[in-house]
Amino acid sequence: MKIPLATSLRGELAVPGDKSISHRSVMLGAIAKGDTEVRGFLKSADCLATIECMRQMGVEIEEVKEENRYTGRQESVLVIHGKGLYGLSEPMGTLDAMNSGTTVRLLSGILAGQPFTTYITGDSSLRKRPMKRIITPLAQMGCRIEAENKNNCLPLEIHGDRLHAIHYSSSIASAQVKSCVLLAGLYADGPTTFFEPYLSRNHTELMLSAFGANVKAKVDPLTMQPGAIIYPGTDLRGQKIRVPGDISSAAYFIAGGLIVPNSEVHLHSVGINETRDGILRVAKAMGGNVITRNIRMEGREPVADIIVKTSDLKGTNIGGSLIPALIDELPVIAIMAACAKGDTQIYDAGELRVKESDRLTAIVMNLQKMGVGVEETEDGMVIHGNGGKKQTGRRTPGKLGYFRGATIDSQGDHRLAMAFSIAGLISDTQMDIRNAECVKISYPSFYRDIARLASPF
Ligand code: S3P
Repeated sequence: MKIPLATSLRGELAVPGDKSISHRSVMLGAIAKGDTEVRGFLKSADCLATIECMRQMGVEIEEVKEENRYTGRQESVLVIHGKGLYGLSEPMGTLDAMNSGTTVRLLSGILAGQPFTTYITGDSSLRKRPMKRIITPLAQMGCRIEAENKNNCLPLEIHGDRLHAIHYSSSIASAQVKSCVLLAGLYADGPTTFFEPYLSRNHTELMLSAFGANVKAKVDPLTMQPGAIIYPGTDLRGQKIRVPGDISSAAYFIAGGLIVPNSEVHLHSVGINETRDGILRVAKAMGGNVITRNIRMEGREPVADIIVKTSDLKGTNIGGSLIPALIDELPVIAIMAACAKGDTQIYDAGELRVKESDRLTAIVMNLQKMGVGVEETEDGMVIHGNGGKKQTGRRTPGKLGYFRGATIDSQGDHRLAMAFSIAGLISDTQMDIRNAECVKISYPSFYRDIARLASPF
């Protein structure tokens, strides 16, 4: 995919629904009693994998159309006919989570409590990702869960059973691990607690509570680590959910609006949950002109409209408790940092090595190809921003030409494809993104939205 150079990025955009919330709406809808209606559901490859797994276990899920009361436009509503906590049926074949870590890790928590055995696998990228992080707590809860190979990767064989409550302290801040344990906690014989070094996204806690589960945020009194406690024994009840726009998708247009000259982007109804809003905090710390307005609640999730304008950015430091709040945005934040004046240090981000690709190595390698000064560290990188001055002495069309146009191998990682496409808008020659179709994992209309907002050079 060749990225056209852009002289500006201007206009209004409603980014697609939040991926994390979309997955959870299907999973909780499936194990609730009664129907769940989901508006704004993200129809991307990852979320469709979750739907397919639930269908294989007998859950009826349909898409109906309705007229939006305010806009008059046709809108799709996903209706999940819930089966209750114990109503799933044993799947005929192996479940396939495809590329989706959220599908496999969250679903495993539910499967651990079912009275049957499940086999679950994924694509070649997901089969390389670590599963010990969920095997360990689920085994402690009494579930017989085995990885077919020695390195604790997919495929997994999960022998569901009555589970024991545990008190679990995780060494990593991960919403996928936390959600896995809390969902298994629905099937346990007492209250289960989960603590982690820093608070990860809390959509599972918020949505479980909306469905009627007894779950609360909790701080470990000994270590002061954040986490949650879940008390089993209540049925979940089907809900009506409106999924906010995904801040992880909005991030590309926040970054684009800041670094492309003459830009002003208005993003509508973006989720700004404080466990996800790290990109906004970093953009402001870098001196970015980013305004959130019309802040409101949609269900239990805060939502806002975001306005971004071209800005002179300065370097910053990103680590500690901020990391989980922007974990998926770090590739595009690295692009912002490369345009900033001065150094940006990213640390405590070792988790990026076990995402859809080793994102630390991939970001550094590709930035270097584009002429950016950057060094990789064990758990992050140092980016030497050139303050918006040209990185290279090559051809400079107008005010563009900041990055050297390069061929970027996305390695099938959607976040790399999108982050480097944004860099391509201000490169000297066209950036060529390999395997760009992987944007379908989280943002199928990404290139259409870019084409709508970008004025070609
Ligand atoms: C997610 C949690 C994060 C994030 C992923 C989605 C979720 O992963 O990177 O894209 O929906 O819970 P980790 O929990 O592994 O950090």
